[in-house]
Amino acid sequence: MSSVEIKRVKPFDLTIDSIAPDKSISHRCAIFSLLSDKPSFIKNYLLAKDTLNTLNIVSKLGADIKRDGSNITIIPKELIEPDDVLDCGNSGTAMRLFCGFLAGVDGFFVLSGDKYLRKRPMKRVTKPLSMIGAKIDGRDDANLAPLAIRGSKLKNFTYKSKIASAQVKSAMILAALRAKGVSLYKEPFLSRDHSERMLKGMGANIKTSLKEDGYEIKINSLKEPLKPLNIRVPSDPSSGFFFAVAAAIIPKSRVCLKNVTLNPTRVEAYRVLQKMGAKVEFIQKENIYEPIGDIVVEYNELNGVKVEKNIPWLIDELPALSIAMAVAKGKSTVKNAKELRVKESDRIKSIVKNLKKCGINVVEFEDGYEIDGGSLKEAEINSFGDHRVAMSFLIAGLINGMKVYDTDCISTSFPNFIDILKKISEVKVGD
Ligand code: S3P
Repeated sequence: MSSVEIKRVKPFDLTIDSIAPDKSISHRCAIFSLLSDKPSFIKNYLLAKDTLNTLNIVSKLGADIKRDGSNITIIPKELIEPDDVLDCGNSGTAMRLFCGFLAGVDGFFVLSGDKYLRKRPMKRVTKPLSMIGAKIDGRDDANLAPLAIRGSKLKNFTYKSKIASAQVKSAMILAALRAKGVSLYKEPFLSRDHSERMLKGMGANIKTSLKEDGYEIKINSLKEPLKPLNIRVPSDPSSGFFFAVAAAIIPKSRVCLKNVTLNPTRVEAYRVLQKMGAKVEFIQKENIYEPIGDIVVEYNELNGVKVEKNIPWLIDELPALSIAMAVAKGKSTVKNAKELRVKESDRIKSIVKNLKKCGINVVEFEDGYEIDGGSLKEAEINSFGDHRVAMSFLIAGLINGMKVYDTDCISTSFPNFIDILKKISEVKVGD
């Protein structure tokens, strides 16, 4: 269990062109390439623990994979039944998307993961999948991994999800592609839409429309293999956001994050930072499946803010945003964010407990928290095995120093985070 110690930082002006490639898009590239019969070319694939596990599963399912650094060629072959457990590591995205993908594939598949993933709720995918004919079992009535899937024939469906979850939506879309006929998936609010954009780009017949009660996605089952992917994965705005917060809280600082996805379902936290007072500029440069460009963030005095809407568009950034809230003038509140409790850790608890250790007044709600901005003190922090909690509190340490324990998890999403941090601060990595 490693630890990282960080010292107070001086003002900085940094352009970062090595923010980790997007995790959500990388997972999807690996999995969706299996829907084609031709090689997919993926540049800038995320070489982090989570997405390498996904690539490994894709290979165990029969695809040939050629790697040249972060450039990956995936040559799909006929899907085979692996003779071993498929290890999703720490990744809820991998486990849920593979459930949907494999539910309609002939064979027997077992999905498992690390001790954190084995505690996360999977019924949100196994239940709707079972309703359309999937045979999935697991601990706690198919809620907890390991999950055993016996591929079977799937029926088309109309399913109205209570939660806006891209993982559930993507699992159901993947299942619908193998089901017979046309399926309808409804969600109360648009969750991140990489799957729809990428699959449409590959030729799938998928239509999204805004209805009175939320979003509706109409999916036609596959008649033939899809076109392969040819993509350069943009940088991950959720990873870049740690350095956006760093620039926003350190006087006279500025950061330019190069080539990140500007997909509106992913950059809402930057808009909140802007609302709090930071200077934020989006510079769109291209459009490959989705808008891509640079984001510039500059320090300005921050004020407290209420975050109650558009939660699915900033859910992953809330740990880092809570650091900005902790130094802002006045109170900030986060509500309607109960989903935080079932992420890589119970993030409401992780944030509240750790901010209190840093001398900040925080009130915990069932679905969020209230933070009274003050001065962040140096403290010893536990990441609870959660990569985003570990990175958020290292950024907090730029103000007065910090020691964060259990930091190995950072490599699940952002292996070069510490290298970039070293460009602006003194960092000591311990055992
Ligand atoms: C993800 C979707 C989100 C997000 C997660 C990645 C994805 O989860 O929090 O980090 O790649 O689909 P939910 O879909 O459960 O909200």
